[in-house]
Amino acid sequence: MAKSTRTPLISGNWKMHHNHFEAISTVQKLSYLLTKDDYEAVDVSVHPPFTDLRSVQTVLEADEIPIALGAQHCHWEEKGAFTGEISPAFLAKLNVTYVICGHSERRELFGETDEMVNAKAKAILKWDMTPIICCGETLEEREAGGTDAKVAGQVRAALSGLTPEQVAGLVIAYEPIWAIGTGRTASADDAQAVCSLVRATVAEVAGAEAAESVRIQYGGSVKAANAVELMAQPDIDGALVGGASLVAEDFAGIVQFHAAT
Ligand code: 13P
Repeated sequence: MAKSTRTPLISGNWKMHHNHFEAISTVQKLSYLLTKDDYEAVDVSVHPPFTDLRSVQTVLEADEIPIALGAQHCHWEEKGAFTGEISPAFLAKLNVTYVICGHSERRELFGETDEMVNAKAKAILKWDMTPIICCGETLEEREAGGTDAKVAGQVRAALSGLTPEQVAGLVIAYEPIWAIGTGRTASADDAQAVCSLVRATVAEVAGAEAAESVRIQYGGSVKAANAVELMAQPDIDGALVGGASLVAEDFAGIVQFHAAT
């Protein structure tokens, strides 16, 4: 498939790190490090905690920094008695572009189910934002040969009821759970094999055209040192980066993978 037609998306998921002062300073440093060439070659997003979003939005807009604002999570309802939850409508008001949906930490630690991920994806799309839908297997599932069934099942469930046009604009992040925050990265071949399965699953569910345009990220201990090889894989269109996105120099080094190719 013509990889060249898909602009890579490098996203920094800050998880529960960086208060709003630290967030501002990280985004400012990032903007000094990234160049016009970087923004032309790669789409970049940062996903700070909720309490930082307004501050980061203000910096990005005031300084005209072409980094997209992202969130890590939201509820699927627009409003209501959901103490502690955040409406997708509130995120849209902050000019959020991408919302991570179904991260394995949300699934494992906070009980998010495939049905919730699907409802959230629909709500995010309704508010004209782009879901980054996460999938991935545990170490036990991988060792038992269950990677393909787990990942394809998560993708099918997340896409249920979406139109091919909606699917075409999505981002799907393949994040093997055993590679998250562990320093263990899937080999480029293993990551490519699962990302290719994700694309084949999208083709089954939503057709070949949607599969060709959907962007698939790899996530799990991505660093500048392994980004070039991962990004060179035909079905890997970007990275969802945790730890290495917290330090501007490290994250910029990943975004700049394109200069090495
Ligand atoms: P690490 O890059 O720290 O492994 O985290 C990956 C991740 O979970 C991004 O969403």
